[in-house]
Amino acid sequence: MNVPSSAPRSNIPDMPSVDDLLPYLRQIDENRWYSNFGPLAQTFETRFAQRMEKAHKLPDKTLSCVGLASGYQALTIGLRLLGVVPNDKVLIPSVTFPACPLAAAPLGAEAILSDVDPQTWTLTPEIARQAASKMKLAAVMSVCVYGFPLPAEEWDAFSRETGVKVIIDAAAAVEAQKYPETCLVAHSLHALKPFGIGEGGLLVARDPDLIQQARERINFGMKDHITYQTGENAKMSEYHAAVGLAQLTRWEDIKKRRQKIYETYKLFFESLQDLTSIHPLLEKTIASSLMISLKEGNALEVFNRLQQQNVAVHHTYLPPLYEHPAFAGLEVTGKEGANEIKHKALGLPFHAFLSDEEIGKIVQKLRESL
Ligand SMILES: Cc1ncc(COP(=O)(O)O)c(C=O)c1O
Repeated sequence: MNVPSSAPRSNIPDMPSVDDLLPYLRQIDENRWYSNFGPLAQTFETRFAQRMEKAHKLPDKTLSCVGLASGYQALTIGLRLLGVVPNDKVLIPSVTFPACPLAAAPLGAEAILSDVDPQTWTLTPEIARQAASKMKLAAVMSVCVYGFPLPAEEWDAFSRETGVKVIIDAAAAVEAQKYPETCLVAHSLHALKPFGIGEGGLLVARDPDLIQQARERINFGMKDHITYQTGENAKMSEYHAAVGLAQLTRWEDIKKRRQKIYETYKLFFESLQDLTSIHPLLEKTIASSLMISLKEGNALEVFNRLQQQNVAVHHTYLPPLYEHPAFAGLEVTGKEGANEIKHKALGLPFHAFLSDEEIGKIVQKLRESL
């Protein structure tokens, strides 16, 4: 058996215990149904949609959703549902997880790496508008980096105005991201996300037909055992749905635990105001990581100094994707914003199991490294 490493960890999943899971696993025993849209997966989807309707004060049955095997597959299937076909151009921010451009590859679509706004660290509708005025885009994949929510109404307006379809990758922004009227929303339920189930994803839309089509696409493109269109196996198993159901009952506590850690960091950061700050958009999400911005733009040096002091510092989503060898051939619309972020963004350890004392020590080491 592998013994977990004692090296410091930047993120530790907040997952249900065996006892939390048992009632749901017993249901699986009774049902003898393990995948293919079983009763637990269906219940999870319904309860998740209801929970989000309540959180966003939407009328009942406004949202439809389907569970998938991963967030990556939610993006690929999402692009298929938006009608992306070979050689289509899909605009994707260059500051995000590699899953985003990789999701366009199985469709034969061309990922165009977009610059991002140096304030919000995201691909904004304004940046997408500029790109759409210069090239024919089939779709935009805008991303809630670090769980930062995106302006739903503005993306709806962009889509209506330009006719370009939009998928919002709200991987780590469950509940923080509003559900726009026209855009598809994808979530990752990877263990390291605030709403983690191990491996899994969700596609959420206001249009139930789109979600029905997603069900066919994630089951080999089949309808009544006949494959009418291309598809794959990207279904959520009953075991993962069991974890999802248990997480729904823990969700309010997960949020509280994360909020407490975030508030503690905020207090410690008050004394560092002139040198660095926590990114303001963290206030608007259920934080999955503690992203800070360094006024001096010396993130790479501070990263090395903190690492030497045994702090589990990280630069998630950096360097920008155009610096990854696998994406070297992709068209890039601009690098200025992304490059600025590369030099000022830094991630500190963030999870529910940090004590006040540990947070104090991390911030003290940061102070010494600045
Ligand atoms: C922004 C973003 N998009 C997509 C993904 C892929 O999600 P998954 O790991 O569930 O496939 C991730 C995973 O970390 C992510 O951070």
